[in-house]
Formats: sequence, C-alpha cells, structure tokens
Amino acid sequence: TLSPIERAKHAAAWRASAYVESGMRVGLGTGSTAAWMVRRLGERVAEEGLQIVGVPTSSRTADLARQVGLTVASLDEAKWLDLTIDGADEFDGALNLVKGGGGALLQEKIVATASDRMIVIADAAKEVSALGSFPLPVEIVPFGWQTTKALVVETLVNMDVLGREATLRMNDDVPYVTDEGNYIVDLNLLRIGNARQLSLVLNQIPGVVENGLFIDVCDMVVIGHGDGAVTLRD
Ligand code: A5P
Repeated sequence: TLSPIERAKHAAAWRASAYVESGMRVGLGTGSTAAWMVRRLGERVAEEGLQIVGVPTSSRTADLARQVGLTVASLDEAKWLDLTIDGADEFDGALNLVKGGGGALLQEKIVATASDRMIVIADAAKEVSALGSFPLPVEIVPFGWQTTKALVVETLVNMDVLGREATLRMNDDVPYVTDEGNYIVDLNLLRIGNARQLSLVLNQIPGVVENGLFIDVCDMVVIGHGDGAVTLRD
C-alpha cells in the first residue's frame, strides 16, 4: 500500500498517461512521479498495444523505459515531440516551474521545449504562491566552476534577490555530475520575485549551461492528492 504522497504522485501520473495516444512521440520526464508515468505507459503498451516512441530525459529514465518495454529514441531521432510528461519540484499559478531536484534539468528543458505540449505531474504540496522555497538548480560546466559560482552569487546580489546562498551539489565526497558531464549549484533563494528575468540573467553568465526555471513551457499541471483524487490546472 502506498503512502499518501506516493498515492498522490501515482494518481497524477496515471491520469496524465491517459493523454498519450498511439502514434505519439512522447518526452519522458525524470523523478519518482515521472517513473510512475513511465511504468503506466509500459502497462498500456502491453495491455492495449499502445504504439509510441519515448524520448527519455535522463539515463535513469531511459533504463526504466526500456525495462518496462517502451520503444526508446533519442531526441535527434524523434526530432519533434507531441507531448512531454514530467514532474516538477515547484509550480506556481502561472504554471511556471522549478525543476532539477533530480539533476536532469538540462535534458528535461530541451525535451519539453521540443514538444507541442508539456504536462506536469505533481503532488499538491508542490504548488507555491511564489517560486523559490525549493533551491533553484543551476547547471554549470566543471571548468572554472568556482569562478562561475561566484559570478552567479554576484548576479543575485546585483538583482537584489533575497537569498544568496549557493551550494555545489555533492555526491558523497565528490561533486554530483549530470548526464551531460556538468556540475550543479543549488541556489537558496527563499522567494523569486521575477523568475523570467532571473532565468535570462543566469543563462548569460559564461559557464552557466542552464537553470531549473521553466517559464512558459508547461501547458497543464495534473495535481495528485493524498486520497488519490486528481485536479487539473491549465
Ligand atoms: C528532475 O531533474 C526534476 O526536475 C524532477 O522533475 C523533480 O525533481 C521531481 O521529482 P519527484 O517527482 O521525484 O518529486
């Protein structure tokens, strides 16, 4: 039996999976909620003969997708996607997101942007009035990472952002390395006033590859609740 939070994730993933139809090219998100969706699509392939091509957003998701019997392609093979379904760490009333808690933000953003539609699946606790309580992940190249991290903090100071704490994400004693071979700096910002501007400014810094703000990318959020109910936001 599932805990309320897992039931919420499962319910959202299950509902969103129903938007997938035969013939679609589907972006497959990363994280524990997206994993439920990938498993559900595997079931639908086996039970209904659903015919889809899945484009994973991480090596973890690629492994799971193959394991559950999905046909997997790279984004360059699929070229353009009908739909991406992915989790999020936070979403606000404008359906803007913070993503990257699982470290896959770069591939996730590329895949979601290459899709006609993005559906986010999340438990209700991830809805916020302003983004920023969840630390914002910023993917940076390893070369000169300390300089890049210092420049990121300087940028936050110049922008008058409340929190300015930046932490290199670790994997035990060594830096966490993304699927693209980069590092992640997590920014403890408390509250992001102008997410659109912050995203643009961060991505201007040499050494910054991408940040976890998804602005105007998500079309709908499927929200799961602890009792298994689902609500839609679009
Ligand atoms: C992965 O990089 C993230 O963007 C995930 O989408 C996010 O961390 C959500 O994960 P859960 O579904 O496990 O909460």
